[in-house]
Amino acid sequence: MKLFDVYPLFDIHPTKGEGCYVYDDQETKYLDFYGGHAVVSIGHSHPHYVKKITNQLQNIGFYSNSVQNKLQKELAQKLGELSNCENYNLFLCNSGAEANENALKLASFQNGKTKIIAFKKGFHGRTSAAVNVTDKAAIQAPINKTFVTEYHELNHIESVETSLKNGDICAVIIEGIQGIGGIEIPQPEFLEQLETLCKKYNTILILDEIQSGYGRSGHFFAFQKAAITPDLITIAKGMGNGFPIGGVLIHPKFKAKYGLLGTTFGGNHLACAAGLAVLEVLEKEDLIAHSKNLGNYFLQQLKTIEGIQEVRGSGLMIGLEFDFPIKNLRKQLLFEEKIFTGSSSNPNVMRLLPPLNIQKEQVDFFIKKLKATIKTYTSIPA
Ligand SMILES: Cc1ncc(COP(=O)(O)O)c(C=O)c1O
Repeated sequence: MKLFDVYPLFDIHPTKGEGCYVYDDQETKYLDFYGGHAVVSIGHSHPHYVKKITNQLQNIGFYSNSVQNKLQKELAQKLGELSNCENYNLFLCNSGAEANENALKLASFQNGKTKIIAFKKGFHGRTSAAVNVTDKAAIQAPINKTFVTEYHELNHIESVETSLKNGDICAVIIEGIQGIGGIEIPQPEFLEQLETLCKKYNTILILDEIQSGYGRSGHFFAFQKAAITPDLITIAKGMGNGFPIGGVLIHPKFKAKYGLLGTTFGGNHLACAAGLAVLEVLEKEDLIAHSKNLGNYFLQQLKTIEGIQEVRGSGLMIGLEFDFPIKNLRKQLLFEEKIFTGSSSNPNVMRLLPPLNIQKEQVDFFIKKLKATIKTYTSIPA
């Protein structure tokens, strides 16, 4: 059997990861400024993470959600403490799209409405409801288009208000920082106005923190730079450092009832062990403060580089906008300098999403290599 060919692949075969480095089958060492798509939060094969998952597997890897699993409660407790969202309830699932799917369902169960507001360039996943609130027609199948989504400009509150006033909007879904869209940041005042309007018009506010959460922005959640309390917060990616796990943080105003949501694999023992290990490392190594401090330094350094049109970001979630498509620049960084970086839906924007325990030494190395490499693409004299 062959693989269904949906991914354009670089011809690199990673066989080992360690901290912020990845090694291929030729023992070539790559510096990871992509984090496997913002997934690797505490670093590749962190010893505590490996030990915790290994120990768990030696005891029990899985049993169904029909019996008690104290690891789920431990995970919820620790997540509440570290994220400062202690009064929320947690529903565990397996991926980002599934988290958003469940959040959209909860919103619609709650107020009975079906119309959604999402934002231009936003991405929320590929399952049915999640893809129908994603601003990319090419990945929506006819079967996904079962409810109306309105796409508004980020940070333009007037048009959102005009629409909310009609009273028929079920939910507004917004990324803490737009990732795939090219690191576009909602302003704190915009988020605060959005919250006020959602309350006024009986609309659920869903914060998608799947990419921007878990310390990546220098806060536990990127929305926490604003004074808001979202109704629902969705998480995945950095939550498991590569182990598939996702979740929805649910405000206590939503009442649970048996059977309302469910999943076979969500919250299984192994996934919880991975999730707990991530939170323990984030706390022990103070990685959220590190992400903020090193991120500030990194942003400052990047802003001094000639040839970059705009530097955007927060913590270790950074976008570099050039006045040319970055495809070849990324390839050169990867194949010549052995550095992984990310792309985005904007062909001119490069995304930087390194593991959160990357150090200043690697940031300086990256800056040096980037400066040298972009000379080829701009008119800056060598
Ligand atoms: C903001 C955001 N939401 C949702 C998703 C979907 O997550 P998953 O691929 O785990 O389904 C992604 C994935 O890139 C994302 O960046």
